[in-house]
Amino acid sequence: MIIGVPKETASGERRVALVPDSVKQLMAMGPEVVVETGAGTEAGFGDDAYAEAGARIVGSASEAFAADLVVKVQPPGAAGSGHEVDLLAEGAALISFLKPLDQTDVTQRLVDRGVTAFSVEMMPRITRAQSMDALSSQSTISGYKAVVMGADTLPRIFPMLVTAAGTLQPARVLVIGVGVAGLQALGTAKRLGAVTYGYDTRAVVREQVESLGARFVELDLDTGDSEDSGGYAKAQSEEFYKRQRAELGKHVAAADLVITTALVPGQPAPFLIEADAVRGMRDGSVVVDLAAEKGGNCELTQADQNVMDSGVTIIGHTNLPSEVPAHASQMYGRNLVTFLDHLLEEGALTLDFEDEITAGTLVSHAGQLVSERLGGALPKVEKASDSSEDQGEEG
Ligand code: NAI
Repeated sequence: MIIGVPKETASGERRVALVPDSVKQLMAMGPEVVVETGAGTEAGFGDDAYAEAGARIVGSASEAFAADLVVKVQPPGAAGSGHEVDLLAEGAALISFLKPLDQTDVTQRLVDRGVTAFSVEMMPRITRAQSMDALSSQSTISGYKAVVMGADTLPRIFPMLVTAAGTLQPARVLVIGVGVAGLQALGTAKRLGAVTYGYDTRAVVREQVESLGARFVELDLDTGDSEDSGGYAKAQSEEFYKRQRAELGKHVAAADLVITTALVPGQPAPFLIEADAVRGMRDGSVVVDLAAEKGGNCELTQADQNVMDSGVTIIGHTNLPSEVPAHASQMYGRNLVTFLDHLLEEGALTLDFEDEITAGTLVSHAGQLVSERLGGALPKVEKASDSSEDQGEEG
């Protein structure tokens, strides 16, 4: 089996699917690895490092895409006058973020091309899949970078300082939505010396917030049934969100830096911060909205823009992991190696459709859409049930 690592082509994407260390780990499992020249350059990994790890460097995207299995960060996109999906060999396999609920056109192309495609964002949140969970690894990086970016934009420092030149008050940092990214943001802000506050609708979060030395923000809202069986937040009623915005307003106004990460799976980001609350913040304050890609938690957020309003900067960066490309790629590469260790048997892709991890992440196979979760987004087809007769295609 040959595994291909093309250079990412999406605008602003600096990550790479495998770093040299992950290449070494994969090759120890049997496959050969081909890497497109320059694939890791922006993440700080040159061709030499890949060659030293055992990879073969190829000069073009088409050579990297011609592998039996291709690993990517971003969903395949336009390539010259064609499409990256068309560079894949028919029946080849692909593992990547695929945004399958948003980019149904790409999913359809993968089906049409007979690609065995796995979407890493559909990894089940179960204990045995934790080390394969790319959403978590990349959210960890986002949470860290949101604080660093916010700190860099603020016209003040984070820690309290008592000096001969006077006393500086510590920055107040409020994190709204304390999942993986939010927890990392709270920890990072605390380490930099800020006074930290966390808020989430899921009740279990209080203890996690407090264990990071932050205060849990209590709102006068009934959040009784706020978590689904997968540990995700449930969508709330419009009446709930309205009250939540009103209650959150004063906490937002008192903060120097607000980081929002609130998401509900399969929905636009909940609207949690009104423009008026932002306008209540003091001049120079900052909002970093990690939900920008899904429409944002703040009324003023614009995806991939820094908006200035009443002296407050609202940062709507939609790809913070790409701003820390070395470590984000290192973690993503580790996720992929663990996932491949799960999928490969004696160096060949072996699909067990009964397995929760395989069934959860597999989007298309042998010309069929096989993801039940995507059944509504594309025409529903029979789920493939016999893996044995398809193995010959995987090369
Ligand atoms: P996410 O990215 O879906 O959402 C971020 C946060 O926003 C969540 O904490 C959510 O509760 C919160 N939120 C949603 N609506 C809100 C509202 N109206 N107001 C305030 N907060 C709101 O979440 P993420 O980071 O993906 O984590 C989801 C859950 O999955 C967590 O319980 C996490 O601990 C769990 N998890 C479990 C893993 C495993 O066991 N393998 C791996 C990763 C996460």
